[in-house]
Amino acid sequence: MRGPLLIASLAAMSASAAAEVGPTYVSIGRDALPTALDVASADHAVLSFEAASGDAVVLGIPAGELEHLSQAMHAAHGRCGGFMAHDSLADARAALAPPTPEAPIDYTLDRGDVVAAVLPGIREDGILATIRALSSRKNRYYRSESGAAVASWLRDRWRGFTDRDDVTVELFDQGYPQRSVILTIPGTTRPDEVVVIGGHLDSIAPGGTAAGAPGADDDASGIATLDEVARALLAKDFRPERTIQFMAYAAEEVGLRGSLAIVREYQRRKIHAVGALQLDMTNYQGSDRDIWLIDDFTSPAQNRFVAALIERYTTATWGVDRCGYACSDHASWHRAGVPASMPHETRSRDRNRNIHTARDTLEVSHNNASHAVKFARLGAAYAIELAKGTLGSAAPPAQAMASAPATTPGAPIALWQLAGLVLSAVALIRLSRRVV
Ligand code: BES
Ligand code: ZN
Repeated sequence: MRGPLLIASLAAMSASAAAEVGPTYVSIGRDALPTALDVASADHAVLSFEAASGDAVVLGIPAGELEHLSQAMHAAHGRCGGFMAHDSLADARAALAPPTPEAPIDYTLDRGDVVAAVLPGIREDGILATIRALSSRKNRYYRSESGAAVASWLRDRWRGFTDRDDVTVELFDQGYPQRSVILTIPGTTRPDEVVVIGGHLDSIAPGGTAAGAPGADDDASGIATLDEVARALLAKDFRPERTIQFMAYAAEEVGLRGSLAIVREYQRRKIHAVGALQLDMTNYQGSDRDIWLIDDFTSPAQNRFVAALIERYTTATWGVDRCGYACSDHASWHRAGVPASMPHETRSRDRNRNIHTARDTLEVSHNNASHAVKFARLGAAYAIELAKGTLGSAAPPAQAMASAPATTPGAPIALWQLAGLVLSAVALIRLSRRVV
């Protein structure tokens, strides 16, 4: 995925998907065939067998059956069990092929001063409030009114993070009510290389549109975590060298539909994504270690980088585990050759058993966000060390921020802040003279 980045209009790229036209094909594990057959026969729906390779098969299925398939997979397979939903048979067949190989990347940890300046700004109460706001809706189902409304709500919220006009927030329309939300901080020197931090905006429970599906953990926690990373970076006027995109994907729960559509569009436009971090379930602490790096459908090289970030920049403990199937949107990027990682809240055997029900509430996480905040620190470190960059002129210098006492909003400006501002202004004037 290499080539020039045309950040100009994600809105334009999505216009072609105005009507719900599919998907009509799923790629799914061979062992899930009986489940798919049960779903189809219960609904008198026609299922077609299209292709097979290794452990996976491609089935044709009416789009309306995806919700039932998702629920049946969850019920029938001890620990969920994924599938990918595709708009065309060609896309579905392509999903059976081995993933595109990743281009090697030089991972370095050399922005300690920037990370040290940003991390103190990450706030647990901010994450908590966002989980509360997201999970207090009836559901965030991809076809419901409340699922559609939450995307506009998030877009407006993200717009409020900065008045910088280089930072954009856009909705990505895929032809169903819920749209994905994308916040872009363009890169200064390597804008064509994109660092993605994502999670899924939708929630699901039996009953679809009519169901109560708070999805506090799955995945309000991930969205709230990346929301706090974006807010904290922009509060410090972060200027990345590479472009950073925060993505709240629609329709993950019905076959990774939102992320697959975005990845397909990026492939079509030859946009070069250099890494993707997936935050799906970050706030339920059920295991003896904090962060679990999923080792299937992810990049070994980027996972080593993420582990190094945890070690260097957090006090969290970590381990390695696996989903066993394409369990979230990282798999969409992985398939396209983009290094993907998925730091997860528990190891699989200790997982939160309330997801996909009306019981996936904040109470299960004791009404705090103390676990998610570790993932927000990791997310900020990932954004800074992979996208590189510096703090902008609107922010105090990193050194001063790291050691200075916090000031409350509205407090009179401190001497050290004034000195920082003067120094930044002088540097800016010098720089602009050189450029001219
Ligand atoms: N957040 C889950 C995935 C998950 C659950 C990861 C438990 C680790 C532990 C995700 O939203 C989900 O439900 N995924 C589906 C698959 C998807 C492709 C329909 C699943 O696991 O069944
Ligand atoms: Zn889920």
